[in-house]
Amino acid sequence: MFSIAHVTDAHLPPMPDFKRRDWSIKRILGYLSWHRNRKTRHSADVLKILKADLAMFAPDHIAVTGDQTNIALDAEYQAAALWMKDLGGAQSVTAIPGNHDAYRPDHDAAFQAHWADYARDDQTSPMAFPFVRKRGNIAFIGVNSAIQTPPFMAWGKVGADQLARLDVVLKALEKEGLARIVLIHHPPHENATAYRRSLLDAADFRGVIERAGAELILHGHLHKSVKASIKGPQGPVPVRGAGAASSNGQGHIPPAHYHMIKVAEMPQSWQIQIDHRQIDTARRVFATTDEEILNLPKPVISG
Ligand SMILES: [Fe+2]
Ligand SMILES: [Fe+2]
Repeated sequence: MFSIAHVTDAHLPPMPDFKRRDWSIKRILGYLSWHRNRKTRHSADVLKILKADLAMFAPDHIAVTGDQTNIALDAEYQAAALWMKDLGGAQSVTAIPGNHDAYRPDHDAAFQAHWADYARDDQTSPMAFPFVRKRGNIAFIGVNSAIQTPPFMAWGKVGADQLARLDVVLKALEKEGLARIVLIHHPPHENATAYRRSLLDAADFRGVIERAGAELILHGHLHKSVKASIKGPQGPVPVRGAGAASSNGQGHIPPAHYHMIKVAEMPQSWQIQIDHRQIDTARRVFATTDEEILNLPKPVISG
């Protein structure tokens, strides 16, 4: 049994001040949006309560699926690195970026500079996407859907090169008999969200999964719990989205939610238990609000 906490969209508060040299239209809009309403919804206090809940379960690994920052300032990248270190450090925390972490033209370099240890492939160096981190009988595959977008757009895109490598990587991991957990910030299933927030090449991503397979896909971005699936070679591949980790439930986004996942290997299948943990803001504790048990048939390996 291997346990994984899936945490996403921390949008770490507070927002640092930013200097004139960091200005861009996108960032100014993001800054105003933070001060107009987001700062009342994302709470450091909620993150503290989350940390206590995670400590109680002591999962083997924590998967963080993007939007650790708000407008991708260096100070926010640094704060997120400290937050992840505090959650367990690079050996037991894996992170990918979200669209908010790409509010700068050099977002790949910023990710590399501050978070590379949390996205370091077991084999290749320097960091590249998709990366693979194997832990026990689990393989985490980190996909980068974060791109710089025009004002008011929150698109994601994986890109043809990364998709081609993803296909190869998933097929290779299948042969190794590992449970493949794909991490991607944007939801990849059909009709997941409005165009302005969507994954532009979601259909191509789904094509890769349909050919190569995966046991579970975890995403963020929508700030709410999502249960969906996409086609795999042997049947549906579950897609699960978690809520925003720092949400205090004010405004239109639900209170903080995360997944506590347990993966058990059976002779013919992977049994994946997903407990949905959500904060009760009045009692200031997380509680399980939903439990699922999924059985994924193990791939039939040919050749
Ligand atoms: Fe977000
Ligand atoms: Fe996002």
